[in-house]
Amino acid sequence: MILITGGAGYIGSHTVLNFIEAGYEVVIIDNLETGHIETVNTLKQYRKVHFIKGDLKNIEDIEKVFNKYKIDAVIHFAAYSLVGESVEHPAKYYRNNTFGTLNLLDTMIKYNVKKIVFSSTCATYGEPKYTPIDENHPQKPINPYGKSKLMVEKIMEDYDSAYGLKSIKLRYFNVAGADNKVRVGEWHEPETHLIPNILKSTFEKEKIFKIFGNDYDTPDGTCIRDYVNVEDLAQAHKLALEYLNKTNTSNVFNIGTEKGDSVKNIFDTCKEILGKEIPVEIAERRAGDTSILYADSKKAQTILNWKPIRTIKDSIHSAYEWEKILYKRLNNK
Ligand code: UFG
Repeated sequence: MILITGGAGYIGSHTVLNFIEAGYEVVIIDNLETGHIETVNTLKQYRKVHFIKGDLKNIEDIEKVFNKYKIDAVIHFAAYSLVGESVEHPAKYYRNNTFGTLNLLDTMIKYNVKKIVFSSTCATYGEPKYTPIDENHPQKPINPYGKSKLMVEKIMEDYDSAYGLKSIKLRYFNVAGADNKVRVGEWHEPETHLIPNILKSTFEKEKIFKIFGNDYDTPDGTCIRDYVNVEDLAQAHKLALEYLNKTNTSNVFNIGTEKGDSVKNIFDTCKEILGKEIPVEIAERRAGDTSILYADSKKAQTILNWKPIRTIKDSIHSAYEWEKILYKRLNNK
C-alpha cells in the first residue's frame, strides 16, 4: 500500500490516478483544507483508493493511517504552496510544510517505513544565477515557501544518515494541465495561477486577465517559466518510487520540460486554441516574481528514464476541458 499525502489536491490527485492505473493500492491522507471532497469522491470510485481525513500537524492522525494499513512507501504532497501568502504568513508555512513533514517522517521511522518521494520545488533555488537551472544550482530560497521545502530536504538528508530513511526529492517547475479523461484537474480557491486564470477570463464576464508586468528583461518583457504537464509530473513520481525500490538510495531530480514560455506566449497560445479574444490588461509586477525560470532536467531523463511527453498545447487543451467542468460544478449548471 502506498500512502499519498495531499492526494485530494491538484498534483496529488493526478498521481493517485497514475499509481492505481499502474496497479498500486493507495491510501490518501488529506485535511481537505485546500483539497476537495469531490476529488476524493471521484478517486474513491476506484476500489484501490482509500481515504482518511487527517492533518499532518496531528501525529495521531498520521498514526491512524499507519495502524490501519501496511504502508510500503510514501509520496508526500500535502503542503501550502503560495509564494506570496508565505511571505505574509510564514508561521503557517513552517508549521504545515516543515513541522507536518517532521511528524510524517517520525511516524515512518516508528513503523519502519523507509521510502519517501517528496514534492520539492524550484523555489528552493531562489534567484537564478544561471539558466537552465540544474540540481547543482545553489539553493538560496527567497521566500518562506521555498525555505520550508528546503528545510525538509535537509531534514531528509539527516534522517537518511541517522535512520536509513531513503528519499527522492523532486524539484518541480510550473505545473499545468489536467487529466486527459478530465476526472480531476486544477482547483484552487482563490486561483492565482497563470493558465487557469487566462481560461477563467473566457467564462467569467467581469474577469479581465492581468499580465503581471511587461517590463522584465526578457524578449517580450513578460516572465518566462517552464510548464510541465501534470500527468507527466505524476509519472515522474512513479518512476522515482521504482528507482527507490531498485537502488535504495536517496537522490534529487529537477522535473521540468527544459523549455521556457513567456506569459505572453501562453496567453497567445490560449487564444489560438480557444479561437476567441480574451480580455486582457497589463498590470503591475507581482511581488516575488523572478524574470526567468526553466529547468535542466537531464538527470531525471537519464537516471529515472523520465520524459516530458505532453506539450504546452496539450496542457492548455486539457486545462480548458477541466475548467468547463469546474465552472459548471461551481455554478450549479
Ligand atoms: N501571472 C500573470 N497573471 C496571472 C497569474 C500569473 O501574469 O493572473 C504570471 C506570474 O506573474 C508569473 C507567471 O504568470 O510570471 C506564472 O505564475 P503562476 O502564479 O502561475 O506560478 P508561479 O511561478 O508564481 O508559482 C508556481 C507555484 C509555486 C512554485 C512555482 C515554481 O505556485 O508553488 O510555480 O516556479 F514554486
